[in-house]
Amino acid sequence: MENFEFVSPTHFVFGRDAEAQVGAKLADQGAAKVLLHYGGGSAERSGLLGRVRESLAAAGIKCVELGGVRPNPEITLVREGVALCKQHGIDWVLAVGGGSVVDSAKAIAVGARATCDVWQFFETKQQTNDVLPIAVVLTIPAAGSEASPNAVVSNDELGRKTGYGNDAQRPKLAFLNPELTFTLPPYQTAAGLTDMFCHLLERFFDDYGAVPVTDNLNLSLMKTIRAEAPRVLADPENYDARANIMWAGMLCHQGLAGVGRHEDWATHGLEHELSAFDTSITHGAGLAVMFPAWMEYVHGENPARFAFYGREVFGLVTSGDVEADALSAIDETRSFFASLGMPTTLAELGFDEARLEEAIADMLPTLAANKGNPFGSFKRLSMEDAAAIYRSAL
Ligand code: NZQ
Ligand code: ZN
Repeated sequence: MENFEFVSPTHFVFGRDAEAQVGAKLADQGAAKVLLHYGGGSAERSGLLGRVRESLAAAGIKCVELGGVRPNPEITLVREGVALCKQHGIDWVLAVGGGSVVDSAKAIAVGARATCDVWQFFETKQQTNDVLPIAVVLTIPAAGSEASPNAVVSNDELGRKTGYGNDAQRPKLAFLNPELTFTLPPYQTAAGLTDMFCHLLERFFDDYGAVPVTDNLNLSLMKTIRAEAPRVLADPENYDARANIMWAGMLCHQGLAGVGRHEDWATHGLEHELSAFDTSITHGAGLAVMFPAWMEYVHGENPARFAFYGREVFGLVTSGDVEADALSAIDETRSFFASLGMPTTLAELGFDEARLEEAIADMLPTLAANKGNPFGSFKRLSMEDAAAIYRSAL
């Protein structure tokens, strides 16, 4: 097992009506004036924002609002949030929404006390502890940002989408009410399931040997997602299925499922370039296409690891041919994503050969800037490898 440090400061309030406690819990923490940050309208329509406002008011907490976070959040709105924090003396940032809102809130919290432009943190990865505390009311289990140390933000002007990691931006409070996810459209539910499953794959397939305590936790989460996914899709108001998925989404990405390993993250790098090139691409859908393509390209480095994964997660029976077993495990992965309603090719995401070549020319320089060259751990990948994986996914 590799050496590691692991920080997880998040206080979770999980279950029905969790959001009713937002005001009281924030008041307990000394919050006086929060920036209430949210997305494009779902939280308003469902009545959630109204309940959060009431809870804050009842606890005597003042609130400044900034809505309109888009999926694949953008730095311009973050800058507006930073300015509001400075202007109003905000002491907490409260995100109500999914990964995009939470990531935007994290970036605001980092920028709020900085003297430089907030994009600089994403550009240079410089660390700071001078970050406003963050609270989250989660409405979609997917990105795992409710407890992760990462924020992923786009800069449309530069054509970049990049991550910034800092334990100081892990949320301090997270309210997880599975009932809030009943209103998710099936596509968003499926993209979320895919994303959290891929957070496990990124950690399971690296160049390190077995770490049983970590690997068994990881595998049990994969099995849980596989079992619960059809239940939430068939019966969106099944509280227990939604609850299992919501908690799994957090566990998949807060870090425990990867400690002691190197982790890979090449496929997230490949996907982030896609959703920067075309901001209408949903992160989970991009992953559903790119992960099996990456697996096919790299599996020869350690086919036994893939065969093991196939047996554990999909119950595949050993054929005696480890290469064949590895390929079966990859087929099962693709079929699982397809069974959720996710795309399996870049063509389904609107690419033909010409558009893909244009995209590759555009994406490789930013991929190298964001991930390094070479990148990945299971197999070190060059930019030529990256281009080949994109082409194989068409
Ligand atoms: O904007 P609204 O109207 O709220 O609609 C959202 C949005 O259109 C909708 N939605 C959310 N909750 C809903 C709902 N609709 C109905 N009922 C609800 N309860 O769903 C859409 C997607 O929301 P978004 O926040 O974009 O989804 P997600 O949580 O998947 O976040 C994706 C972003 O997170 C990044 C991705 O790259 C992407 O930008 N990631 C962040 C990570 C992190 N911070 O650690 C790690 C991940 O790997 C990922 O890269
Ligand atoms: Zn992800």
